[in-house]
Amino acid sequence: MSAPAAPATPSSIDDLPPAIEVRGVRRVYKAKPNPVTALDGVDLDVAPGELFGLLGPNGAGKTTLIKILTTLLLPTDGTARVFGFDVARQTTEIRRIMNIVSGGEQSGYGLLQVREQLWMFSQFYGIPVREGWRRVDELIDAVGLQEQRHQKISSLSTGQRQKLNLARGLMNDPWILFLDEPTLGLDVSAARVVRDLVRGWQAAVPGRTILLTSHYMAEVDELCDRLAIVDHGRILALGTPTELKQRVSAGSIFRLVLDALEGGVEPIAALPGVERAVLAADDATAPDGQTVAVNLQLTDDAVLGSVITALAAQDAHIVALQKSEPTLEDVFVELVGRGFGDAPEGDR
Ligand SMILES: Nc1ncnc2c1ncn2[C@@H]1O[C@H](COP(=O)(O)OP(=O)(O)OP(=O)(O)O)[C@@H](O)[C@H]1O
Ligand SMILES: [Mg+2]
Repeated sequence: MSAPAAPATPSSIDDLPPAIEVRGVRRVYKAKPNPVTALDGVDLDVAPGELFGLLGPNGAGKTTLIKILTTLLLPTDGTARVFGFDVARQTTEIRRIMNIVSGGEQSGYGLLQVREQLWMFSQFYGIPVREGWRRVDELIDAVGLQEQRHQKISSLSTGQRQKLNLARGLMNDPWILFLDEPTLGLDVSAARVVRDLVRGWQAAVPGRTILLTSHYMAEVDELCDRLAIVDHGRILALGTPTELKQRVSAGSIFRLVLDALEGGVEPIAALPGVERAVLAADDATAPDGQTVAVNLQLTDDAVLGSVITALAAQDAHIVALQKSEPTLEDVFVELVGRGFGDAPEGDR
């Protein structure tokens, strides 16, 4: 917190070392009755300018990794570097170029007003007085707390407090911003404001990097360039949201609703490029038996043409056609064998 403001970001991101370089990091907490292995051999590379997400259930090790990268915690084994600086030996250098914002964090001193509080932080970051006030007002505008500028911190709503936290996190103009569940507990519109802010901040200067954790799959899907799915202290999968979703469904999945299917589903299933064609059992679209629904898995979208031709030959007409996209939740369930809402298998 007492680190001075970060030096200006270099003009070319080609000059920058990797934003994050983690090699074989393990972290064991000494806990009773048994030690807890929170990170169990993590390797991770994040390039300057990336918005990288860590997605994982409670207790996966996300916050532990962030604490290591922000020099709040040492790894038990392995090495980690942030913009080339070693987390164990170059804490001062790292603190100058990073900041961290956690969802649900307490925002300083309840009796201070928003503007006073932010100015105090500007002084912690060593920003000269006049520049500090300028920066405070700029950030209040940026996060949309103009109406609350003279309100006491203790009276802010959850969403307003989170905007204040974000303003604090941007105060030292970090090269890398760690966001640990930045939209925790926010309503839909407040969460959107926070996401837009984060994205806008990052896009404004090449090389600005964000590492974000979240439980909200849609948020990670929408925001992140790449993500890692983490569970039990390990990275289970890593890639762009599109790459990860492609892993669970090879090909395309469609749901067809037809007015009739006299010849049955077998002729469709036998067509080249059709991996699966089954009558939908849960047929909510045809409670009165007037239509028939078929779930199709095709090697790719183009196969749909021959399916439609074959149906026409059977005199079956399409009432509705819906393409289903896999979600990150499908990826997670396939990898971990349980959904986010399910309880983990016992304490570790
Ligand atoms: N100080 C500590 N002492 C002992 N165990 C700890 C400590 N901090 C974390 N752990 C354990 O380490 C594991 C990883 O915790 P961590 O907070 O990194 O998970 P997380 O992925 O951030 O979870 P969440 O989504 O709930 O925030 C958990 O099993 C947790 O109980
Ligand atoms: Mg956490």
